[in-house]
Amino acid sequence: MTITRLAEMRDAGEPIAMITAYDFPSAEVVEQAGVDLVLVGDSAANCVLGYDSTVPVGMDEMTILAKAVRRGLKTPLLVGDLPFGSYEASNELAIASSQRLVKEAGCDAVKLEGGGASVERAEAIIEAGIPVMGHVGLTPQTATALGGMKAQGRTADRAIKVADDALALERVGCFAIVIEAVPEAVAAMIVAKLDTPTIGIGAGNATSGQVLVLHDLAGINDGHLAKFVKRYADVRGEMLKGVEQYVSEVRSGSFPGPEHVYSVEPSELDGLRRRLDEGDLESSYSWDWEPLP
Ligand code: KIV
Repeated sequence: MTITRLAEMRDAGEPIAMITAYDFPSAEVVEQAGVDLVLVGDSAANCVLGYDSTVPVGMDEMTILAKAVRRGLKTPLLVGDLPFGSYEASNELAIASSQRLVKEAGCDAVKLEGGGASVERAEAIIEAGIPVMGHVGLTPQTATALGGMKAQGRTADRAIKVADDALALERVGCFAIVIEAVPEAVAAMIVAKLDTPTIGIGAGNATSGQVLVLHDLAGINDGHLAKFVKRYADVRGEMLKGVEQYVSEVRSGSFPGPEHVYSVEPSELDGLRRRLDEGDLESSYSWDWEPLP
């Protein structure tokens, strides 16, 4: 997948499928499923690292996760999320963090959240030669300032701010823009003003593509689900069933069964028994041998 191809898909009205991944086996699965774009999202903070928001995750953690995803991917474009604190303070910091995700982790592009100062950061990163995906509407890194994890752009005043952010990110050359948790009709109006591919999450059907968090759609996470999430599988339920069955079989002694054990020639076993009983060992340990039963 290339940025040019994404633009062609947008122009041709071919929906773009994007998903998050945070590790090697998930990357292999999403590759096999044929997704177009993979995001190592800072949602890894909640989904795989156990934080209660995306704010605490740092560059070291994001880099390790992105490296693992890179090893499992061939075809989709790989986007690394710039975590909170890795780009806001200066253009220099934003470029250095982006370069790390590209050079160390092998990402093809980076994503950052918000308008305002983020627009200038996006421009600087793009000028440094790294493609940038924007993210407007609900931006979880700054959700507290937005009044919590809730839909954005529900009044004309708030919606014009979302539109403004998206248009500014387009102007500085973002190759795609995520629109999160915005009423479908508002997203449709914003999309109509943009020439850049848009990827919606909780933004309805007018965007050029959709993104969901893998752990939400596959049912790996427990707990509250946003209105826009559709569950396509119950991986957590299946894992739980498997682990419960394992625990029960270990406790009953039915695992491991004959099919899970290695065999040995009886003559070799006799030889081992004899030598053990005679204490014929190379090590210098010696103790009182009880003959084997
Ligand atoms: O971190 C993430 O998973 C994201 C997507 C929801 C777009 O930013």
